[in-house]
Amino acid sequence: MQPCFITTPIYYVNDRPHIGHAYTSLAADVLARWRRLEGREVFFLTGTDEHGQKVEKAAGDAGMDPQAFTDEVSQHFRDLAVAMGFSNDGFIRTTEPRHKEACAALWQKLVEKGEIYLGDYEGWYAVRDEAFYGPDELTERDGVKYAPSGAPVEWVREPSYFFRLSNWAERLLKLYEDNPDFILPASRRNEVIAFVKSGLGDLSVSRTSFRWGVPVPGDPAHVMYVWLDALTNYITAAGYPTDHEAFAKWWPADIHFVGKDILRFHTVYWPAFLMAAGLEPPRRVFAHGWWTNEGQKISKSLGNVIDPLALVQEFGLDPVRYFLLREVPFGQDGDFSRSALVNRNNGELANALGNLANRTLSLIQRNCDGKLPPATARAPGDAGLGALVDALPRQVGAHLDRQEYHLALEAVMAAAREANGYITVEAPWALKKTDPVRMEAVLRHLHDALRVFATVLQPFMPTTMASLLDQLGVSEEARSLAALATPLPGGIALPPPSPLFAKIETA
Ligand code: MSP
Repeated sequence: MQPCFITTPIYYVNDRPHIGHAYTSLAADVLARWRRLEGREVFFLTGTDEHGQKVEKAAGDAGMDPQAFTDEVSQHFRDLAVAMGFSNDGFIRTTEPRHKEACAALWQKLVEKGEIYLGDYEGWYAVRDEAFYGPDELTERDGVKYAPSGAPVEWVREPSYFFRLSNWAERLLKLYEDNPDFILPASRRNEVIAFVKSGLGDLSVSRTSFRWGVPVPGDPAHVMYVWLDALTNYITAAGYPTDHEAFAKWWPADIHFVGKDILRFHTVYWPAFLMAAGLEPPRRVFAHGWWTNEGQKISKSLGNVIDPLALVQEFGLDPVRYFLLREVPFGQDGDFSRSALVNRNNGELANALGNLANRTLSLIQRNCDGKLPPATARAPGDAGLGALVDALPRQVGAHLDRQEYHLALEAVMAAAREANGYITVEAPWALKKTDPVRMEAVLRHLHDALRVFATVLQPFMPTTMASLLDQLGVSEEARSLAALATPLPGGIALPPPSPLFAKIETA
């Protein structure tokens, strides 16, 4: 099976981690875990973006040297990964020597190919976005000009190296056309195509007005544009330019997860840099939407930034992971509300899934002496649930192949609702006296269903599903998708069940 390289953006270290960072990485984590369940070798990468004017300024404001400052803030992102249960295989920092070496190598390759030339840059720049804007993109309020993102811009005039982006429009359009799933969701693809068709100018790729960056080879008065530096992280981590074997194995990346705000950098500049250097573009870029908080835009000035660690502390890790991917179709904007989280937790996790598991396992404990009943053929009344359960792994896989997390979870919930209907209709508690053989069959079918639910939900809720699989008597080796083909032997002893999810009481 093909190895799989999955990335998150590298996060700016000017700030503490918030819900947006946690969200992008969570989506990547779930896909990485799913690919491992499929038996694929995965390289899941995240990290921090540590150069540029914005970080230099944040360090200055904190009265710190930029390296000491980035060392400190970068650690918060590592801590976030641990607290959120992310299974990243690598963590890259753009201040590492291996990364500066990769940037220099890519730059030199672009120079060799005639793709970079020296000129003068004059135009509008937003430090907050680390991006250049054309005059027609700006709006003005109280004498200050703003980029479409809301960031103020300043006029910049300095010598600069340029990348011949204008040469690449046709090849970019061909890339989008030949690979319809290169940019997902489709609405974002259309947006990018329209942008490229509107015409591409050359791109300023160096700055001279500050020092905190990767020096341009042979002209250290310039530092590389922070986006050229940052995007290069993906190939640095894959082994470029020195580890040819690793690079051949991991590149091109299977998917870059990004927020919609950084789509242009990943789908226009990045593939153009790569193609210009004779390297392959990534296979897919998926742009997710933005969260608001109880209907309001999230911003530091409004004081409504959501701290993912506080959420986890209050609601528990797995309910938070579940909610973020369940509530909002991945790709669309969504609103974070506490009541929505509580409803999902209580209705779907505690009731539909948790109670089902608890009722089934308690009955096996009580009525079957804690021993798993043997596998048995389906009676007509078992067929509906059986068909849903059989189809589930493939269905979840098909949704995850397109990053449709909410649909994957909806499919599991639909099957769990069916199983709840089944247990009510079959009433195995009443069969003990009347038909103990049927009782055992019903409990076994429910156990089989729970095993499938727990297996496919592992990437979303690793800790709770590990506990459910323990309670179901599924050994560590039997938790992959392939293992589902082998029924568990009847007669194995199951541990006494314990509740998986707590109901959240609201005042
Ligand atoms: N450093 C660049 C990325 C370089 S990648 C080569 C950067 N960093 S960032 O820290 O500002 O943002 C990282 C991610 O957080 C983006 O994917 C962005 O979309 C996401 N989010 C920031 N605020 C968000 C919300 N309110 N909601 C959802 N995601 C948001 O950009």
